[in-house]
Amino acid sequence: KKRYNITLLPGDGIGPEVISIAKNVLQQAGSLEGVEFSFREMPVGGASLDLVGLPLPEDTISAAKDSDAVLLGAIGGYKWDKNEKHLKPETGLLQLRAALKVFANLRPATVLPQWTLKREVAEGVDLMVVRELTGVCDHVSCQGALRLMKMTARKRRGKSCSVDKANVLDASILWRRRVTALAAEYPDVELSHMYVDNAAMQLVRDPKQFDTIVTNNIFGDILSDEASMITGSIGMLPSASLSDSGPGLFEPIHGSAPDIAGQDKANPLATILSAAMLLKYGLGEEKAAKRIEDAVLGALNKGFRTGDIYSNGTKLVGCKEMGEEVLKSVDSQVHAS
Ligand code: NAD
Ligand code: IPM
Ligand code: MN
Repeated sequence: KKRYNITLLPGDGIGPEVISIAKNVLQQAGSLEGVEFSFREMPVGGASLDLVGLPLPEDTISAAKDSDAVLLGAIGGYKWDKNEKHLKPETGLLQLRAALKVFANLRPATVLPQWTLKREVAEGVDLMVVRELTGVCDHVSCQGALRLMKMTARKRRGKSCSVDKANVLDASILWRRRVTALAAEYPDVELSHMYVDNAAMQLVRDPKQFDTIVTNNIFGDILSDEASMITGSIGMLPSASLSDSGPGLFEPIHGSAPDIAGQDKANPLATILSAAMLLKYGLGEEKAAKRIEDAVLGALNKGFRTGDIYSNGTKLVGCKEMGEEVLKSVDSQVHAS
């Protein structure tokens, strides 16, 4: 039987709500594939500031580094917004990513068949924003770009759109030159270039033109939030942050949503799907990952919707009930198979 150590970092706001659900789903999907997990929960962000006065204690760093994968909820909240920079929850997250050297941030945006809003534009969208995660907008991020291209070039449909601002920024000129040079090594990958302002517009106009969008830290942050609305809600989008070796970090792309925290309103699907990415990209457990993805589809097919994705004729549920339905849906696969 395979056994993995998973570090859970619930964090702040809706983080703990969505992590406790994703943990159960992970456990259930794993058990159907002969995969066992030991979980270790550690503090990060504001919760950690309150506990020990630091947004990322040494113990959390070492637990994360020693594990096979890390699943994070979200950090941040009004309470800590006025803290000095080094004592902000956000700093803890940035430090964690740096400590794990997770330079590549994969943010898929897949429109599920149940989604009905803007049907003609959205139907069939399946794109991935690959965001350089640990660099600032300087030469460092070019290094990241090369590694990103290598990591993703052949994994999807073989189309890669590099997004930059080479008409204005020196760093972008260098980025484009390096990306173009690297593309020569991958003749089977179709490379195109787009300026970031145009990319922002094209994402809304015709998102289906994209397969993989490869871009730097800041552009990737912004474009992935934008891409989330094509799928219906930021509450749907997972992410994987990967390094060359060592544990990956898996988290929803949304924040701690203080406006709805503690009210059982959060959509847990982004975190549940992050657990699926943990299995697929972190542990190579594709079958268990598929079980989670199918279970999410199952719950949506039955009409279950949290408030952020609710529309007429569907069934409005809270965070817990959505989580329970996904769990049931994983469970029903036992009888189906
Ligand atoms: P946010 O993503 O927390 O929330 C933006 C909006 O989306 C809110 O209206 C919120 O209710 C909604 N939303 C987000 N996740 C949802 C979910 N799962 N289900 C339903 N609705 C959801 O962004 P923000 O308000 O700009 O930031 C709030 C805090 O989160 C800040 O402290 C910020 O720094 C932090 N943040 C953390 C991360 C992270 O941990 N990775 C990411 C973004 C923001
Ligand atoms: C994200 C967030 C973080 C980022 C912040 C909270 C540091 O916006 O994960 O998308 O900029 O990476
Ligand atoms: Mn963001």
